[in-house]
Amino acid sequence: MFAKCAVQLVLFFSALVPTVQAQTGSKALVDESRAVANQIVNQVRGELVRELERTGPVRAITVCKYSVPEITSNISRQTGMRVTRVALRPRNRALGEPDVWEQRVLLDFENRITKGEKPDTLEYHEIIDEPAGRVFRYMKSLPVTQPCLLCHGPSNQLSEGVRALLATEYPNDKALEYNIGQVRGAVSVKKSF
Ligand code: HEC
Repeated sequence: MFAKCAVQLVLFFSALVPTVQAQTGSKALVDESRAVANQIVNQVRGELVRELERTGPVRAITVCKYSVPEITSNISRQTGMRVTRVALRPRNRALGEPDVWEQRVLLDFENRITKGEKPDTLEYHEIIDEPAGRVFRYMKSLPVTQPCLLCHGPSNQLSEGVRALLATEYPNDKALEYNIGQVRGAVSVKKSF
C-alpha cells in the first residue's frame, strides 16, 4: 500500500516538474559517474606506474590487457553502472569499440580540443531513450600523457619489445601514433532507469 502510494506520488510530482526532477536526478548520476571515472583513471594509473617502474613497459602491457577489464568490471558490479573504456581507434576491438552515441561524443571531444578546451577536463552526459528503455549516459576523456606514449605513441618510438608484443597480441591495433594532448579514448558509463 505504502509502496503504491509512494509510486503514485512520485509519478504525480514527476508529471508536474519533469525537468527539475530530471536535473536533480541526473546531477547525482553525474557526480557518481565522475567519481567512478576518476577511480578508474587513478587505479589504472597506479597499477601502470607500479608495473612500469618494477618491470618495464612489456610486462605493463599485461596490466592493460588483464587488470583494466577486471577493474572496470569490478566497479560495474559495485555500482550497478556499466563502465567501459572506449576509443575511436581501439586497440582491442572486442572491448573498446564505441557505439554510435559514444562515437559522436568522442568526435565532439576532439572538436572541443580544437576550440581550446583542455583534454583532461572533457566530459559529457545525457539521458536518452534507447530501444530497451531510458538510460543515463556519461563520458570522460582519457588524454594522452607522457607514459601513454610508451604503448600508444609513434610506432618508431616504441621499444622493440613493446612493438613485438603489441604486434602479436593485437594484430589489428589502431591505437598507435598518438601525441600528448590528444584524446586517447574515454571512460563510458551507462545506467538504466
Ligand atoms: C604498457 C603499455 C600501455 C601503456 C603505458 C598505456 N596503455 Fe592503453 N592500452 C594498452 C593495451 C595493451 C590496451 C588493450 C587492452 C585490452 O586488451 O583491452 C590498451 C587499451 C587502452 C584503452 C582502451 C581502448 C582500446 O584502445 O582498446 C584506452 C582508453 C587506453 N589504453 C588509454 C591509455 C592511456 C590514456 C594511457 C596513458 C595514461 C595508456 N593507455 C597507457 C597498453 C598501454
